[in-house]
Amino acid sequence: MLPVPLQQLILLSFLLIVSERKFAWTSKFSMLYIDNPVGTGFSFTDDTGYALNQDDVGRDLYSALIQFFQLFPDYQKNDFYATGESYAGKYVPAIGYYIHTHNAAAKIKINFKGIAIGDGLCDPEVMLGGYAQFLYQVGLVDEKQRDYVQRQTDLGAIYIQLKKWRKAFEVFDVLLNGDETGSPSYTQNVTGCTNYFNFLQCQEPADQEYFGMLLSLPEVRKSIHVGNLTFHDGSVVEKHLLEDVMKTIKPWLAVLMDNYRVTIHQSPPLDSIFCLLTLFIPYL
Ligand SMILES: *[C@@H]1O[C@H](CO)[C@@H](O)[C@H](O)[C@H]1NC(C)=O
Ligand SMILES: *[C@@H]1O[C@H](CO)[C@@H](O)[C@H](O)[C@H]1NC(C)=O
Repeated sequence: MLPVPLQQLILLSFLLIVSERKFAWTSKFSMLYIDNPVGTGFSFTDDTGYALNQDDVGRDLYSALIQFFQLFPDYQKNDFYATGESYAGKYVPAIGYYIHTHNAAAKIKINFKGIAIGDGLCDPEVMLGGYAQFLYQVGLVDEKQRDYVQRQTDLGAIYIQLKKWRKAFEVFDVLLNGDETGSPSYTQNVTGCTNYFNFLQCQEPADQEYFGMLLSLPEVRKSIHVGNLTFHDGSVVEKHLLEDVMKTIKPWLAVLMDNYRVTIHQSPPLDSIFCLLTLFIPYL
C-alpha cells in the first residue's frame, strides 16, 4: 500500500481533470465567489478579525464588495444579487441588509436587486421544531427516536428563548453534527448515515472531496493567485460564530422581502438536514 498522500496524488493526477459545465451560471451572469466569512478558504485574518455575529459578516462582506467595485467599476451598473446556501441562510440576508442600510449614503453604490437562499438556516427556533417529525416521516428514525429528537429540539428552543445561545448550539450540534463534541452525532448514530445532504446516499460521495484536492494542486493555486496561502476548512470561523448559530435572521429577511426580489429554495427533496433547515414555512 502506498501512503495516503501519495495515493491521493496519483489519483489526482489521473482524475482531477476539470471540464466546462454545459449549463453554467457564468454563461449568463458575472459571478463573484467569496470565501466568507473572513478566515474561510484562502481568506485570512488574525485572531481579532473573525466575525462573531452577522453584523460583522455584513460589514466585512460589504467592505470586500466595495473594494471589488472600486477595482472593477465596469461591473457596478450590473444588477446585483447575493446568493448562498446552508449557513448562508444567515450570510445572504446579512449582506443584503447591510447594503440596504448603507447604499443610500455610500459613494460607491451597489445596484442591489435581490437575494437567493438555498437550504438555508435562517430561523433556528422555528426550524428545529420540525426535525423530529421530518426524520420520522422519511423513515430515518423510529417512534422512540422521534420522541427523543422532539424532546431535544424542544430543549433547544427553550435555550433560544432564554438567549442561552451556546447551550442551544450544543443541543443542535449533538443532534446533527458533532462538530464540537468530536464524536458522531445522535442522528448519525441512529441512522447509520454520515451524509445528511441526501438521505438516499447514506455516505458522502467521494467526489465531494475532490474540490479541496483540486485546490491544493500547484497549477490551480497558481491560476487563482493564492500562492502558498493555507486553505482553511472553516472550523476556526465556526468556533467564532458559536454564539451566532442559533440566532434568527428573520427580521432582516423580512425587510429584504419588502424591498427586493427574494428566492428561498430547497434542494429537491432529498437534502434531509437542510430540508429540516428548510422547514421554514412557519417562519415566513
Ligand atoms: C454516538 O456513538 C458514539 C460511539 O458509540 C458515542 O461516543 C457518542 O457519544 C454517540 N453520540 C451521541 C450523541 O449519543
Ligand atoms: C509563504 O511564502 C512567504 C513568502 O515566500 C513566506 O514568508 C511564508 O512563510 C510562506 N507561508 C507558508 C505558510 O508557507
